[in-house]
Amino acid sequence: MNILVVGGAGYIGSHAVRALFQAGHAVRVFDSLEYGHAAAVPGGTLTVGDLADRDALELVLRANAIDAVMQFAAYTSVPESVTDPARYYKNNLVGSLNLLEAMRAVGCKKIVFSSTAAVYGIPDHVPILESSPKKPINPYGFTKLAVEHAMADYASAFGFGFAALRYFNACGAATDGSIGEDHRPETHLIPLILQVALGQRQNVAVFGTDYPTPDGTCIRDYIHVEDLADAHVRAIERLIPGQGMTYNVGTGSGFSVREVIDACRRVTGHPIAVVERPRRAGDPPALVASSDAIRRDLGWSPRFTTVEPIVASAWAWHSTHPNGFEG
Ligand code: UFG
Repeated sequence: MNILVVGGAGYIGSHAVRALFQAGHAVRVFDSLEYGHAAAVPGGTLTVGDLADRDALELVLRANAIDAVMQFAAYTSVPESVTDPARYYKNNLVGSLNLLEAMRAVGCKKIVFSSTAAVYGIPDHVPILESSPKKPINPYGFTKLAVEHAMADYASAFGFGFAALRYFNACGAATDGSIGEDHRPETHLIPLILQVALGQRQNVAVFGTDYPTPDGTCIRDYIHVEDLADAHVRAIERLIPGQGMTYNVGTGSGFSVREVIDACRRVTGHPIAVVERPRRAGDPPALVASSDAIRRDLGWSPRFTTVEPIVASAWAWHSTHPNGFEG
């Protein structure tokens, strides 16, 4: 298929681009480069443009005879979404609607969308099922849930086929060492810990040590970015007109912040100093996916099921690219 990857120069999008090429698809990337990196995508595939630019979207869809779209372009900082909600509703929701409208105008009706575990808010039970209550606790989660609803409505009204993939904690880097995670500013746990190992920061904060978990720190389901990319390729190849599929994408296993730090100590051989801090606002104690549905329906299963090999792939990238895509 001819596939447009919107946000394909970002962390997860760029890994999906590689997986699509490996699966034999033709790929065009559309990215504003506000947060993405041109160096993360193969030469000649990038169109620089903004989701707000409907004409540019229609042009790139038509010019490349696009059959299906993957939509990764979004702002992703939960705390920023709380302090500046308009920025999130405009880019993540209005931007995605622009994309859906551009697709409708050109007759392209297949889309795979990056959703998030944030649609569940603070879950009553783990592992979380797709049918668990959707109760976002921040604008970021609301914008993602709203796009899920919009896609379902486009499926009913216009025959779109869609997939919403609700990621848990994306992490790791390409196993061949070519691309990895480079967020500015960095807020995610594993890269922050590895910055300590690299001597770029003195210590890592542990946000909350009094959670109702075995070691008092938050539990998350860490999913390798290549396993996420594989889920996208499987989903886009199985879209059905007029129907939607919504899947959690996680390993089904949870690891605490302290367990992740210990894994980083083992992988890097660095002691990694820790400072204990109060809880971060809005952090649920535990987020773990039930991934039974995607395993059953798409034959997907994660290759990375524990934290240590995930950290090893991240460390291979960060230790050889201490300044990310800047070298
Ligand atoms: N954490 C620390 N210290 C840090 C950074 C994080 O202790 O310096 C902890 C957090 O409190 C959390 C865990 O490490 O318990 C993971 O935090 P991340 O910031 O790496 O990831 P989140 O779980 O907050 O966020 C991820 C995605 C979001 C998404 C969210 C869904 O990055 O985009 O899951 O809940 F919204």
